Amino acid sequence: VSDKMIVQSHKGPYTAFFDPDAIGKLNAASFDGVHFIIDAHVAELYANELDNVLAHGSVLRIVAIEDNKSLEKMPEYVGHLVASGIRRDHELIAIGGGIIQDITCFLAATLLRGVRWQLYPTTLLAQADSCIGSKSSINVAAAKNIVGTFTPPNEVHICGAFLDTLDEVDLRSGIGEILKVHAIDSPASFATLAADYGKLLSDRGVLNHYIRRALEIKHPFIETDEFDTGPRNIFNYGHTFGHAIEAATDYGIPHGIGVTIGMDMANFVAARTGRAPETHFDRMHPTLKANFSGFENTDVPLPGFLAAISKDKKNLGSGSVTIIIPDQDGVLEKVQRANDSEFADICSAYLTDVRIS
Ligand SMILES: NC(=O)c1ccc[n+]([C@@H]2O[C@H](COP(=O)([O-])OP(=O)(O)OC[C@H]3O[C@@H](n4cnc5c(N)ncnc54)[C@H](O)[C@@H]3O)[C@@H](O)[C@H]2O)c1
Ligand SMILES: [Zn+2]
Repeated sequence: VSDKMIVQSHKGPYTAFFDPDAIGKLNAASFDGVHFIIDAHVAELYANELDNVLAHGSVLRIVAIEDNKSLEKMPEYVGHLVASGIRRDHELIAIGGGIIQDITCFLAATLLRGVRWQLYPTTLLAQADSCIGSKSSINVAAAKNIVGTFTPPNEVHICGAFLDTLDEVDLRSGIGEILKVHAIDSPASFATLAADYGKLLSDRGVLNHYIRRALEIKHPFIETDEFDTGPRNIFNYGHTFGHAIEAATDYGIPHGIGVTIGMDMANFVAARTGRAPETHFDRMHPTLKANFSGFENTDVPLPGFLAAISKDKKNLGSGSVTIIIPDQDGVLEKVQRANDSEFADICSAYLTDVRIS
């Protein structure tokens, strides 16, 4: 049974299909004027299921590491596509997680001033979160996600079968974003998900339900604020802290795990600064902690963390940080917070003590 979601964007509507047979249909299709960009690991794991795709004349295999999602690598990718005869009426087809998505989206936005592109997300994070919303971000030297565009795909094909080969940490990274989206929806929505948390890794039907639900919650925000200048900002919940944790650990913590720790940290900052009662930290902490298990003791050096959070691209000035934290009712709001010694002390207390508790 195929099911779909239609998303409006500045380039017109596009459809996300929920299709358990998407891999088989793609592999059986005839390819005219298409160029594949595929995660090299996925190409290996799905060599049989995707044999026709991989035998096509234009297949760019990319190892999904941050260094390959960089402006410095673009000449190689563009060179391949030019040598493969790319034209304006051609289409790029991305098969992979957020890294392959970001690379393909950036290429599709800029090559020949824009070509069509499709996405087959293969990670939980990409299926439940990043596949809709138009964003691409590319690294330049040490600056992560510093250049990018808003360029929606023309089609998204969500195929649950890809999740079978993900390891538990990659699944929990995606679950981190699902937790985030439910927390944004409401405390009740988070509570419903938290009650099912134990089933997410063991029951594919339950996981599929929450993938769909996460996209449904995100859907109106990206339609009303595609360019992220207003209401969509709260989707950065957990991200200012999370990005700083990722940077301070040299990206040794997967994105969605960093976001999970970041949400816990945001709740703690809200409680310590009196913006929200401790109850919001307490009600979410057990679920968040379960999701970042294995990383509760990972060393996050405070100087690196504070340096990274001070440079966050969402900050307005050097003396403040922009963070998303709960208010008295657990509703998330964007707050400018002084980046002072009290803030540093609260972050330190969280990373060395509270995170482990
Ligand atoms: N554009 C956006 O809206 C957006 C949103 C969130 C994150 N991102 C970016 O996405 C990246 C993270 O993406 P991600 O977490 O989806 O994963 P990823 O692309 O970094 O891949 C993670 C790992 O999973 C492997 N993998 C992918 N699919 C697999 C499968 N089906 N089976 C087994 N292994 C598989 C990859 O080879 C890789 O080793 C970061 O660069 C982040 O900045 C972009
Ligand atoms: Zn994220």
